[in-house]
Amino acid sequence: MATRLFEGKEHASGYLKYRFSPPEKLQEVIFAYLDNKKVSSFQLAVDVGCGSGQSTLWMAKRFGKVVGTDISEAQIEEAKQAGHPANVSYLVSPAENLPFEDNSVDFIMAFAAVHWFDIPRFMKEVERVLKPSGCVALSTNCLDMQVQYKDCTKKLTEIFNEVC
Ligand SMILES: C[S@@+](CC[C@H](N)C(=O)[O-])C[C@H]1O[C@@H](n2cnc3c(N)ncnc32)[C@H](O)[C@@H]1O
Repeated sequence: MATRLFEGKEHASGYLKYRFSPPEKLQEVIFAYLDNKKVSSFQLAVDVGCGSGQSTLWMAKRFGKVVGTDISEAQIEEAKQAGHPANVSYLVSPAENLPFEDNSVDFIMAFAAVHWFDIPRFMKEVERVLKPSGCVALSTNCLDMQVQYKDCTKKLTEIFNEVC
């Protein structure tokens, strides 16, 4: 897997120092979508590939519990040490094997990370853990990407390309 780039301790502490949160405009778009869609609950949000936590914390004001997961122990250590509200926690875990029960998550996000995942396996996990009324938000800085998911691959990839 081509995931080792961000794993080292030095890289992770550089992340904590310089990495920014998702832009406010994007946060507003996501909140508005969640409100309009009226997800049935705002209990649990999961930030997959959370790095040192910059993409995780902003969800704490809307969800009862927010969990950031990342394959890199160094990134998760930085996230924990950076401090966070009581409803935020972090776990080391690969995106392709998420440590959550079936039908238990309201919202899954992955910012600037999904292009590192094994996308078909990740999407299978998303389908397993997400509640039927749940939502997914994926962002990438990769221009040439496919989101493989059942017979929606073409449509999802078109949407990605449209907003790139
Ligand atoms: C570019 S960083 C983005 C971090 C954070 N989401 C942000 O926006 O600041 C990508 C992150 O994905 C993580 N990652 C890469 N492959 C992964 C995988 N298969 N499962 C979980 N995390 C992974 C890396 O360790 C890294 O922290």
